Amino acid sequence: MIYTVTLNPALDRAVNVERLMDDDTIRVISEKHYAAGKGIDVSRVIKELGGQSVALGMIGGYDGLYLEGLLINAGVMSQLIKISCETRTNIILKETATGKQYVISAKGPDVSPVEIGQFYNHMLSITDMEYLILSGSLPPGVSPNIYGQLILAGRNKGAFIFLDADNRALEESIGFLPTGIKPNIHELSRLVGRELKTEDEIIDACKSLHSKGLKYILASRGRKGLLFSGDGMIIKAVAPPVDAESTVGAGDSAVAGFILAHSLGKSLPECVRLACASGTATAMTPGTELCHREDVEKIDTEVELTIL
Ligand SMILES: Nc1ncnc2c1ncn2[C@@H]1O[C@H](COP(=O)(O)OP(=O)(O)OP(=O)(O)O)[C@@H](O)[C@H]1O
Ligand SMILES: [Mg+2]
Repeated sequence: MIYTVTLNPALDRAVNVERLMDDDTIRVISEKHYAAGKGIDVSRVIKELGGQSVALGMIGGYDGLYLEGLLINAGVMSQLIKISCETRTNIILKETATGKQYVISAKGPDVSPVEIGQFYNHMLSITDMEYLILSGSLPPGVSPNIYGQLILAGRNKGAFIFLDADNRALEESIGFLPTGIKPNIHELSRLVGRELKTEDEIIDACKSLHSKGLKYILASRGRKGLLFSGDGMIIKAVAPPVDAESTVGAGDSAVAGFILAHSLGKSLPECVRLACASGTATAMTPGTELCHREDVEKIDTEVELTIL
């Protein structure tokens, strides 16, 4: 089974208003709610593409229960530890008159040592973990070294482990050697401590990470697609140009495509192809909406793969 981890999930409220005004009541035209957070995005895309995973995480309060219910209704399996503080809410505000979008992201609830301990022990008790996907930011009270410990726990279970994190959460856990990472170009630049612009610079950065024992790097480059390095191969995937609406969640979708294809026994080039198609299909959807299966299947046939 594929397990995703979201330690700081969110209830996303996507609100449409005609125009923001500072001196009058602003009426909401429409409002949609989504279960969000990077690991949860991965689980939702895996489900959309016909696969199954279990979303692990911590939720609190009414909004946390609401989030859990959204996942149940979407057919996404979850095992969420209950915490005492309320799950965060992010507001994605769209001004329909101008098309402008504002994302107001909350930092998340305080998590006590007892609660993170409960989460950790729950993870230790899982017996069918084949894949472990660790994604996203950490809530207050959880140390950046948590991912390193989860990587060790996953490795003891023989899981294929993928990490998608930034800054200290990435730096402090990379030495524990997840099987692979999915940095975007800015995250990879911060990780190696130099700005990476060209393909050759990215490939050099990947080589230096391989020399430290990291097996796979799936570097995402927005509309320039993906560059994968591992098993002695460099694989480049580029999708045809699309009308990008919002790239929020594109990276999570790329992780979902890669892991789902890998779990189905596909070759690495095919995994990178589905990653690229899934990311691109999510870039085509508005706001925080994720990809649709029909778009992914269509783009999958159009992705240009180069094996260097
Ligand atoms: N504008 C775009 N047009 C086409 N494809 C895109 C676009 N943006 C993203 N993609 C696809 O999605 C993949 C992941 O996107 P990106 O590099 O933006 O990830 P990210 O920065 O980690 O995103 P996030 O963390 O918000 O999920 C890209 O490698 C590419 O395949
Ligand atoms: Mg990302």
